[in-house]
Amino acid sequence: NPLDFSGVWRFRELFPFAPDDQIVTIGEGQTILQQSDAIGKYVGLKHGLLHLQYEGLNPSGSFKDNGMTAASTHARMVGAKVAACASTGNTSASLAIYAGVSGLFKVLVFVGSGKIAYGKLSQALDYGAMTLQIKGDFDDALKQVRDVCQQAGIYLCNSVNPFRLEGQKSIIFRILEGLRWEVPDWIVVPGGNLGNASAFGKALIELKHLGLISELPRLAVINAAGANTLYELYDRRGLRWNGGRPDQTLMDAFYTDMDARNRRANTLASAIEINRPVNLKKCLRALDACQGVVREIADGDILDAKAIIGAGGFGCEPASAASVAGAKLLRQQGVIGASDRVVCILTGHQLKDPDATVGYHAVEESPKLVEKGVTRRVFQNSPVVVENDFDRIMEVVRRMSS
Ligand code: F0G
Repeated sequence: NPLDFSGVWRFRELFPFAPDDQIVTIGEGQTILQQSDAIGKYVGLKHGLLHLQYEGLNPSGSFKDNGMTAASTHARMVGAKVAACASTGNTSASLAIYAGVSGLFKVLVFVGSGKIAYGKLSQALDYGAMTLQIKGDFDDALKQVRDVCQQAGIYLCNSVNPFRLEGQKSIIFRILEGLRWEVPDWIVVPGGNLGNASAFGKALIELKHLGLISELPRLAVINAAGANTLYELYDRRGLRWNGGRPDQTLMDAFYTDMDARNRRANTLASAIEINRPVNLKKCLRALDACQGVVREIADGDILDAKAIIGAGGFGCEPASAASVAGAKLLRQQGVIGASDRVVCILTGHQLKDPDATVGYHAVEESPKLVEKGVTRRVFQNSPVVVENDFDRIMEVVRRMSS
């Protein structure tokens, strides 16, 4: 069965909502768990204990394809003619590729103007999505698209769509498969709209109910410091799942204050530049089930981790590196032990945001990074400028290769 070649649908018994002949698949989720001692050393872990789930290898270059195959399938089942999403870039690239390949529906994407890395914008345009650049940020775009979809009867593909999260459960199944179903001590994931963290919690709770695992790993969700709503609410103010009744007054007061100060998300990790995560409550459930912790990481530390990940051969975009930077922080704090087995999710491919990478390595050409306080480098690999002259080039080559 061709569905068994999809890293998502080969687990379809664990989310049986679609008949086989309706499934829209482009071979997503063919990602495997990999080990890295070089990056493990940076995190502070012993040999063999750091694993990376490299979701950048999906067809559109991010983990979103795990969910979008499921949402596209459901869109087909209900006969949707138009699908839409708001996006910091990856969701839109993913939705656009599914629409392009399947030809089943048209796509409208809402992005905050100037808030999307060019690698991702280029994908939406190239795959033929109709793109609306809103003069605002992701939080504004998501609010608008939700209202538009409701009014216009358009199929919504953000992670409020429960079918998206069903597909994203497969990331957990593949991780466990990679570990021969031995549960790791920690799963560390970047947090933006909190769809992944929610899907992971759901997957793990269900696997335990089914008796496929007997204990749950601990879950660490990592915010960028400039987009840290979950960190503020969970870690600083003690907001908890509370049996399905998280403190609404606390959340309302938080957002009222945010609006009063007109506080906007602001991070170089543009994929997670989000202040109003729609899956907040579901994520609290996951944190509750998995003895979760939440941390925030400054942009400079995210980019340092990204450089180490790159040098280790797993290029990723800034938001993805938050997982490794978060694991390092938790290790320093003694929350993660030196002998713990840790899985970090690398959510998006390095090519998504070349500006961030080149900016990091060629600091003098990146005022944007300097403006955000990123001045030091753990690993800087600037290009060497040399004249178009054989002897001068040979001189440099000898020096560099000695
Ligand atoms: N990493 C990457 C590369 C992302 O693109 C996103 C989300 C996240 C992490 C956060 O995941 O929302 O499940 O907590 N990107 C969305 C988008 C918002 O529009 O592409 P989450």
